[in-house]
Amino acid sequence: MMFQFTEEQKMIREMVREFTKKEVEPRDKWMDENGFDYELHKKLTQAGLMGIHLEEKYGGGGGDPVTSIIVIHEIAKGSASAALFLDANWLAADLILYHGTEAQKDKYLPQAAQGKIFAFGLTEASGGSDAAAIKSTVVPAADGGWVMNGGKAWITNSGVADYYIILAKTDPEAGAKGISAFIVPKDAEGLAIGKFEDKMGMRGSATCELAFNNLRLPADALLGQLGMGFKYAMQALDGARISIGAIAAGLSEHAMNIARSYANERVCFGKPIGKFQGIQFKFADMAAEIRAMELMTYDTAKMKAEGLRHTLEAAETKLFSGTRCTQICLECQQILGGNGYSKEFHVERFVRDAKLLEIGEGTNEILRMLIGGTVLAQK
Ligand code: CAA
Repeated sequence: MMFQFTEEQKMIREMVREFTKKEVEPRDKWMDENGFDYELHKKLTQAGLMGIHLEEKYGGGGGDPVTSIIVIHEIAKGSASAALFLDANWLAADLILYHGTEAQKDKYLPQAAQGKIFAFGLTEASGGSDAAAIKSTVVPAADGGWVMNGGKAWITNSGVADYYIILAKTDPEAGAKGISAFIVPKDAEGLAIGKFEDKMGMRGSATCELAFNNLRLPADALLGQLGMGFKYAMQALDGARISIGAIAAGLSEHAMNIARSYANERVCFGKPIGKFQGIQFKFADMAAEIRAMELMTYDTAKMKAEGLRHTLEAAETKLFSGTRCTQICLECQQILGGNGYSKEFHVERFVRDAKLLEIGEGTNEILRMLIGGTVLAQK
């Protein structure tokens, strides 16, 4: 791979790779069957991984956006669910890092580094793709605070989060410019958390509905400027879509490794099936596509680290990686034949996990609209 990591990033990659083999991969099946794994969360915290991307002054590991992507990528090689948990956690906590006041950063970021869980609440039941059309509202209260009403759906980490970053309309007439962001603690009066969704895949990452019934918030719950929430959310998603590229690359590699072992061992017509051209061609395509995913992912992470706008590149990374990951997992299942259809060989779970990468954090259709529109507007 041409992309060069620093010595420190290489060290972190080795550390997370070991951690994943020992602590993450063995828990992936359990999470699929039982849901969110508090034990793994404890281990991620103890290993310093929950806050590895935060500055040291907040108790974090001092990592940068490339380091964060290394962590997500390596964790995804053992569990896509666990990587998604970290991605959603950082997506939410980073909104405080980028837009919070000094007081908010001092209050919340050390907690993030110590393992408190954050969730990002944008999507609503009436539709997730048209993000500016959310209906939840926040109005000023007489005491200088805020009152929130409405609800959210499909919020990753909900039900296990300590804090929610909620996007709501503060000026319903102003479209995207009437949306603001608020920090909501899990025990806020008026916050109701629904049951965990019974999902097809990514079952180790918690997902619930949220309802806000005259939820009272203090004045300092507002995050950043009034009316800027939509832009903050879109910028946050630009970063999160790079993480989806990393999850796709890691999950694809995990599936391909299992398929490779199988293809080298499984004998058919007198030789391992990996000796047949039909199988070899599948590995050729998969290996090339995984390398492309990695290159797009790290190149876009580098853009983010350098402070360059990466809306287009992140959308391309997510579209390509998410789509190819689903196909790679299906190909690996096909290579394993009947065994690929059995839970024992894990790949059927990967197929179920992969599909989310084409839906969450911007569907393939929304990404194509965004990319197509941008490309056609270029001179
Ligand atoms: N960076 C900075 N600014 C941005 C931006 C970005 N990436 N994207 C849009 N903006 C700005 C625009 O420049 C514009 O500002 P001005 O008016 O000042 O020019 C403003 O925001 C409005 O932009 P658009 O006109 O493009 O807004 P739109 O309503 O047409 O939105 C959309 C278009 C891109 C489709 C958007 O609705 C979108 O991204 N939808 C998908 C949402 C999504 O990904 N949801 C998944 C949430 S993830 C989740 O919820 C899971 C989880 O738990 C982690």
